[in-house]
Amino acid sequence: MIIRPDAAGAAETALDFVRRLYDRKPDPVLGLATGKTPLALYGKMRASGLDFSGTHFFNLDELVGLGPDAPNSFRRFLRENLLDGLGVHEERVRLLRGDAKDLEREAADYEAAIKEAGGIDLQILGLGRNGHIGFNEPGSSLGSRTRPKTLDRETLADYGPGTPRFSITMGIGTILEARVLLMIATGEAKAEAVRRIAEGPLTSETPGSALQLHPRAHLVVDEAAASRLARADYWRWVWENKWRVGQ
Ligand code: GLP
Repeated sequence: MIIRPDAAGAAETALDFVRRLYDRKPDPVLGLATGKTPLALYGKMRASGLDFSGTHFFNLDELVGLGPDAPNSFRRFLRENLLDGLGVHEERVRLLRGDAKDLEREAADYEAAIKEAGGIDLQILGLGRNGHIGFNEPGSSLGSRTRPKTLDRETLADYGPGTPRFSITMGIGTILEARVLLMIATGEAKAEAVRRIAEGPLTSETPGSALQLHPRAHLVVDEAAASRLARADYWRWVWENKWRVGQ
């Protein structure tokens, strides 16, 4: 848990994780998240000067029925907010197809493509107000794989009218196989979800609590999102002392 003063600080810290990955691996496999939260990180990635040409890209989820150019399509969002202008190689970009005729088959193909690319090195994650990750709504199996999933009413309300009720999403089991998880959560509206995933019990009722099972899961939050944490002081103390282990 890394608590930064504000959203810009959280994005900077998240970029440090991305930089460290490219330091050791110039052709990594990146898992992307859609949503407002990672936008600041994506802006920084675009401006970073890092060479993304060897990167394989996957994404977490997509709304069902939307083609790649539909205004609410996650593919469109990721192209416009990150991939366009990043110098990516198209054959290394594999984003979920919400308009696939056979969604079960799309899900199986997607899992196979991730395996073929060597597995995801760094998975970027956001957090829903109800504790969801990807579109794994409360009650999702902690072992779930990529599959179609019905959106929760609260999630639909966050998106506004006209949003498709169904999604296709990496499962929690799929997400947990990424070598490193990097979740960003900012703003007061996420404070309760952050508390539940970090300090609450591991339960499918709070899908993000599955991060407790992962050996390298990093949560980067701002002070507002950390405001309900009982152990916030401990995490600040850890951050202040992180380079002093053994001194
Ligand atoms: C959606 C997405 C999630 C995302 C979450 C938070 O439900 N499926 O992947 O993390 O919303 O979005 P935001 O960052 O806009 O708050």
